[in-house]
Amino acid sequence: MTPAEHLSDLRARIRYHEERYYVRDAPEISDAEFDALMRELLELEAQHPELVDPDSPTQRVGGRPAEGFATVDHLEPMLSLDNAYSDTDLREFHGRVCRGLEVSEESALAYVAELKIDGLSIALTYEGGRLRRGVTRGDGVHGEDVTSNIRVLRSVPLTLKADPPALMEVRGEVYFPRAAFARVNEEREKEGEPAFANPRNAAAGTIRTLDSAAVSRRGLRVFVYQIVVPAGSTLVADIHGGVLQALGEWGLPVEGHWTRCAGVDALIGFCESWREARHSLPFETDGVVIKLDDMALRARLGATAKFPRWATAFKFPAEQARTRLLRIDVNVGRTGAVTPYAVLEPVRLGGTTVQLATLHNEQEVARRDIRPGDLVLVEKGGDIIPKVIGPVLDARSDPPPVPWVMPAACPACQQPLARPEDEVVWRCENASCPARLRRGLEHFAARKAMNIEGLGESLVNQLIDAGLVRSFADLYRLTTEGLAALERMGQKSAANVVAEIEKSKSADAWRVLHGLGIRHVGEGAARALARAFGSVSALRIATVEQIESVGEIGPVVARSVRAFMDEPANARMLDDMAAQGVLMADAHADADNAPRPWAGWTFVLTGTLTGRTRDSAAETIERLGGKVSGSVSKKTRYLVAGTEAGSKLDKAKTLGVEVLDEAQFEALILKAADL
Ligand code: IVH
Repeated sequence: MTPAEHLSDLRARIRYHEERYYVRDAPEISDAEFDALMRELLELEAQHPELVDPDSPTQRVGGRPAEGFATVDHLEPMLSLDNAYSDTDLREFHGRVCRGLEVSEESALAYVAELKIDGLSIALTYEGGRLRRGVTRGDGVHGEDVTSNIRVLRSVPLTLKADPPALMEVRGEVYFPRAAFARVNEEREKEGEPAFANPRNAAAGTIRTLDSAAVSRRGLRVFVYQIVVPAGSTLVADIHGGVLQALGEWGLPVEGHWTRCAGVDALIGFCESWREARHSLPFETDGVVIKLDDMALRARLGATAKFPRWATAFKFPAEQARTRLLRIDVNVGRTGAVTPYAVLEPVRLGGTTVQLATLHNEQEVARRDIRPGDLVLVEKGGDIIPKVIGPVLDARSDPPPVPWVMPAACPACQQPLARPEDEVVWRCENASCPARLRRGLEHFAARKAMNIEGLGESLVNQLIDAGLVRSFADLYRLTTEGLAALERMGQKSAANVVAEIEKSKSADAWRVLHGLGIRHVGEGAARALARAFGSVSALRIATVEQIESVGEIGPVVARSVRAFMDEPANARMLDDMAAQGVLMADAHADADNAPRPWAGWTFVLTGTLTGRTRDSAAETIERLGGKVSGSVSKKTRYLVAGTEAGSKLDKAKTLGVEVLDEAQFEALILKAADL
């Protein structure tokens, strides 16, 4: 075998096993054997770089868009679907179809019923059997080009088998398998990040992230169900069932439970049969999509501006159950928000046992007149957390239970709660409240904050309960002996945790800023603030205006940062942390003494830089005293243009702004560093 033949053979074998695993859910080899094939391919490609093919299975993680996602037009609009919520609605849909086609309502028209996948719609363009583009639905006419994130999904073939049309758009749904969704939410909780409420939001959020390596780790999958070919081309099949079959034969993932139903009674039967059974599927489905099978009949019916007349989506009703509301408790979050939740007598609902449900806030409890002791109606829709709809008034006891009142004091620290006039949420404003501290410490230690390994939920609880830690600064007073005295904590693990805490003293400024848990300051804002100010101490003396002048930081964040720094308890805690040796500054930052040769200059970055990441370019500019802005204006000193620069380059030229290519930019940095 020549190397080229060997490569093509390996690629075909890998694609075959990818399809077995990700499309058919029927792997033939173990993960280890698959990894071995992949390694063999990687090695062979490394020996023959001239033979690397952009569609090789090794090339899934490609470049990522430099400036968000480009907007592109769909081949034809991506329509939505009309909804049906009951058997009556389904019969009415069938009636409209029959009238439109001038056939009797008794006729056994052929429909295809498919499970409705609860994800996000996607359009995949295949040209010559190769994946060219993946685009979100967007507004239906234009979507976002998310190709880099679609390429990493292993259920999406980069090349198709057999002979598909020369150009086609395949449409389908990107979704989160239940198991992957649960894993991602577990990880988020560990990191102190809010859990995704439902797999649909999670899938949509993931596909729109800019880091395709992170997308790849999430484990999203795709199901496809439609083909669009350019106007005038021949259709793939004259019935929808034929389309689904062709898609499968090309190696694309088609959800396998679709069924051809003759007449409306069969459709109703199909929907009914999945009402309960859907909970045992490995993915979420919120209904059944019903489509006329015959393409010629579809064409006769056409579409309204919003949806086709030949299809409808039957939505399963949100599941409800009755159970006793045992009591209403409140939860104190990291930022001090105190929110009520229902503690219920356990009840089976939507395939799981439900014991807790959200009540949103005090006003909602009053508006719905929900009282502890009531029999209540609980509902579970697409979201993972069920909600209490309201009391079953007919079943209310006599005399009725007393209405619930929001506690006046924090259940954890007994300090009075406060509610700003224009807000609905009550807050515990005591920064050293043990409940806030518990959550706050977990967040402080999280991987995306101070990254203190070993300091998780249970150790945090032990430290607070033992009275060893009352503030972030106290962490830095812990000793191996003190920790080792705690239950389930050996000398060795205690020493490890102390070493981890010690290491965190030199964590970059953004980690500290994120870890402090300042309201509205997530990882992104923390990074931007750290880049601009270099240290927490510099930020402590900045005015709201100065903070707001940082690109990416708006007035709400700026005011929140200022308010945090102005709070005496926080100021004391930061002083204490500094006294314990926590650096709270980037290693290179020496805000007062560093030369700032680019002070007063605003830079705009565009296109892809090859030598450094955008973050590193921005960091360097800010370290030298310059500012980075997102848009070109007359005030822009330099536009730094990487490859594939777009509209910003045009604008800079129009405004006469000086443009630097990457080499010129690097030369300017070298010159500044010489100062
Ligand atoms: S067909 C013109 N089939 O549901 C017909 N859609 O509520 C286009 N969806 O926008 C859609 N599973 O994102 C179709 N088996 C399925 C589906 C499905 C999920 C989504 C799709 C659509 C939305 C409408």
